[in-house]
Amino acid sequence: MPVLPNEYSIRRVKPSDYEGIVETLRVLTVVGDVTKEQFEETVAYWNEVTVKSKGEPIKAYNPHVITDGSGKVVATGTVFIERKILHDCGLVGHIEDIAVAKDQQGKKLGQLLIEHLTELALSRGCYKVILDCDEKNVGFYQKCGYSIKGVEMDRRS
Ligand code: ACO
Repeated sequence: MPVLPNEYSIRRVKPSDYEGIVETLRVLTVVGDVTKEQFEETVAYWNEVTVKSKGEPIKAYNPHVITDGSGKVVATGTVFIERKILHDCGLVGHIEDIAVAKDQQGKKLGQLLIEHLTELALSRGCYKVILDCDEKNVGFYQKCGYSIKGVEMDRRS
């Protein structure tokens, strides 16, 4: 398994990550005109929502960033933990919104982030971790240990 470059670190998202996260997410898709206040309110919401794991509340939203030596956000991604009826009211982790800044791609940051989020979900009791992605990223997720299962579909307004 690769390791983070010197002085890079991985941690949970903070309200002060506004600029870094909005900028980094632009490599993935349209972010829109999200204000600092909207971002901070969303992070506060993420910090509040819990799901029960073995009778104990754990955080449902687990947004993370990788920062470089100067503290700049260079990658971001989330694992959302859902409680189901299936599998004895089991937990499933959903990997969402993975983005590595353009000038930082190819340094294994994406793989390290996926490994971190996957381990977080499994250690909280998830029986599986799943994600949707474009065809062009299948090879990346296979390198992260994921396999193709089924077909992704959507319906939009
Ligand atoms: N297809 C095939 N293999 C790939 C791809 C790809 N698109 N991207 C990386 N790889 C390979 C690398 O070559 C490397 O292989 P190696 O171990 O043989 O050297 C391995 O996967 C790990 O690559 P990383 O360096 O960790 O990849 P990176 O840090 O650049 O992150 C990512 C990959 C996340 C796809 C990045 O390019 C990115 O942010 N792209 C734009 C946004 C995006 O598409 N995000 C994914 C959305 S899907 C979701 O959110 C669930």
